[in-house]
Amino acid sequence: MQDKPYKSVLIVGCGYVGRRVADLLPADTCQITGCVRSKQSAAKLELSGIAPLVIDLDQPAAKTGWADGFDEVFYFAPPTPHGEQDLRMHAFLQAIDTAALPRRIVYISTSAVYGDCQGAWITESQALNPTTARGQRRLDAEQQLQAYCELHNIQWLLLRVPGIYGPGKLPLARLREGTAVLREADSPYTNRIHADDLARICVAAMNSPHADTVYNVSDGQPSNMTDYFFKVADAAGLPRPPTISRSEAAQVLSAGMLSFLNDSRRMSNAKMLDELAVTLLYPDLDSGLRACFTA
Ligand SMILES: NC(=O)c1ccc[n+]([C@@H]2O[C@H](COP(=O)([O-])OP(=O)(O)OC[C@H]3O[C@@H](n4cnc5c(N)ncnc54)[C@H](OP(=O)(O)O)[C@@H]3O)[C@@H](O)[C@H]2O)c1
Repeated sequence: MQDKPYKSVLIVGCGYVGRRVADLLPADTCQITGCVRSKQSAAKLELSGIAPLVIDLDQPAAKTGWADGFDEVFYFAPPTPHGEQDLRMHAFLQAIDTAALPRRIVYISTSAVYGDCQGAWITESQALNPTTARGQRRLDAEQQLQAYCELHNIQWLLLRVPGIYGPGKLPLARLREGTAVLREADSPYTNRIHADDLARICVAAMNSPHADTVYNVSDGQPSNMTDYFFKVADAAGLPRPPTISRSEAAQVLSAGMLSFLNDSRRMSNAKMLDELAVTLLYPDLDSGLRACFTA
């Protein structure tokens, strides 16, 4: 039998990162389908030349065979917003006909699966110990995907991704509102990756000779979260936000914001750089922010 002249690629959750990944795939050899939840997002995909598929993974109909027959799958949809399980991942896996399985699935997970590491440098062998339901749902998604792929002999790659930033994805509204941040002495370590680098890493993961493994994805230059807000404010020409202590933060910040302040870790990106052989366009926040404001 002759090989078909193109690869069919499915991007589940084809949003900010997914559209960037689609831009990097060769149009002459890849047929790309982007799965989104809303008609508005589908219209955006169509304008970019990506075939849209409107599926709401929260609806029972999402469990029927719309995900069959793709050669490669990027799975970027966020987990179910509540509980400790990712029911969206479950729906997606149920929607694949086992007679028409993909070769490989690349999944964007998050570094929240590690939980609090008290500022330590961590590698992919760090114990998984999510401290939030958000992190628990990600771990559940990872485990579902791994088990399914191992059962069906599909290659899998998990990318544990920290804060994604890029043009249009910066906390400018929060800075304009003057929302306070923790004083630097109390501020946890955070890690980041520019969206354009993340997209290139996703493509490298799909094409890599390595499979069935996990990568920490970051620019390798962690800093405290307050430093991040200060640098974004400086780059945007906005006033730096006021700083408060941890006990003051507990009074004024939302539970959602507070949940991001309890985990502190510094991620090594050595395995990613070595095995995926990616040279980062933005190896630190300064270069990435400059690009955000000159693009
Ligand atoms: N923001 C960060 O700093 C960060 C850090 C680590 C990991 N991540 C994760 O990285 C992944 C990619 O991020 P992104 O910025 O590209 O996200 P995004 O722009 O918000 O895109 C998410 C996509 O998922 C789709 N989606 C959401 N709920 C769905 C549902 N119930 N059924 C079907 N599709 C659904 C959305 O469709 P609609 O547009 O139609 O709703 C959209 O296409 C996400 O999983 C995100 O959680 C983010």
